[in-house]
Amino acid sequence: MNFSNDLAVKAEKINNLMEEVLSPDTGYAEYLMDAMRYSVNGGGKRLRPMLMEETCKLFDRKSEELKYFMAALELIHSYSLVHDDMPCIDNDEYRRGRKTTHAVYGETTALLAGDGLLNYAYETAAKAFDVTNDAALCGKALKVLSKKAGIFGMVGGQAADVETEKNGALLSKDRLLYIHENKTGALIEAAMMIGGILGGAGDDEIKKLEEAGSSIGIAFQIRDDILDVEGSFEELGKPIGSDAENSKETYVTLFGMDKAKEDVKTYSDKALSIIGTLGKGNEFLVKLVESLVLRTK
Ligand code: IPE
Ligand code: IPE
Ligand code: MG
Ligand code: MG
Ligand code: MG
Repeated sequence: MNFSNDLAVKAEKINNLMEEVLSPDTGYAEYLMDAMRYSVNGGGKRLRPMLMEETCKLFDRKSEELKYFMAALELIHSYSLVHDDMPCIDNDEYRRGRKTTHAVYGETTALLAGDGLLNYAYETAAKAFDVTNDAALCGKALKVLSKKAGIFGMVGGQAADVETEKNGALLSKDRLLYIHENKTGALIEAAMMIGGILGGAGDDEIKKLEEAGSSIGIAFQIRDDILDVEGSFEELGKPIGSDAENSKETYVTLFGMDKAKEDVKTYSDKALSIIGTLGKGNEFLVKLVESLVLRTK
């Protein structure tokens, strides 16, 4: 298997899916749809929909619904980035090697583009009900998506994150882990759980996928914190030193660089050992998770 070639092919397939999903004419709201398209496109890794699809392949059920959930999750991820970059949150001017949405379209449109993407995500996921032969399974997937995206997931984590930063609250290890688990882990948990649900995994397996997703998410955000210190703008496509500029405490400031690197590996290994016990195996999925430990973008 040629991992980097397969990775590029799979990401391109998801790029096409996102273009297809964001193609309708929207009349006088066209400027907003432009901003939504801009926010979704332009070189994201497409990790979350990819994890969803690859996790689904661990199991036997052939899912017709999957692509709607893959797109929905990437729409939610994209909106989270639009809002995360805005002046009132991280105040960043670059993302994926291009100006951020608010820098191009202005803050008002960026705010609405986030709102538009979030709602369109659920509109897209709901299309799964048109093609499914198992509405209960779709309902179960939708329940996971909505929970992990909201206050018991990504939004909750973002809230705890900005509150620490803005109010200068002391960051305990417990709180940092809550932030990483939620602001980043939750959408990755959703990816793997929904992949499992639509693939026909049992409840015990879905629980294990949640644990694996959580570990991958924590590792992914620790690596993000590391790259904010020692990454390169050229590769990452977003500013280095954003956390320091916002006086943000991160995994690196709290535990030190060496421990941060060690823990990325530990969390990743934990996820891999769980994945190894599930379904019929997926070599690409294993390689994908392994590749995140030393990712540079
Ligand atoms: C960035 O996510 C935000 C974090 C959760 C660290 P990604 O690194 O997956 O961003 P894209 O989609 O590839 O640009
Ligand atoms: C953001 O974490 C995670 C989200 C839920 C958007 P960061 O603020 O560290 O992500 P980047 O570094 O801007 O991509
Ligand atoms: Mg942030
Ligand atoms: Mg940010
Ligand atoms: Mg970051």
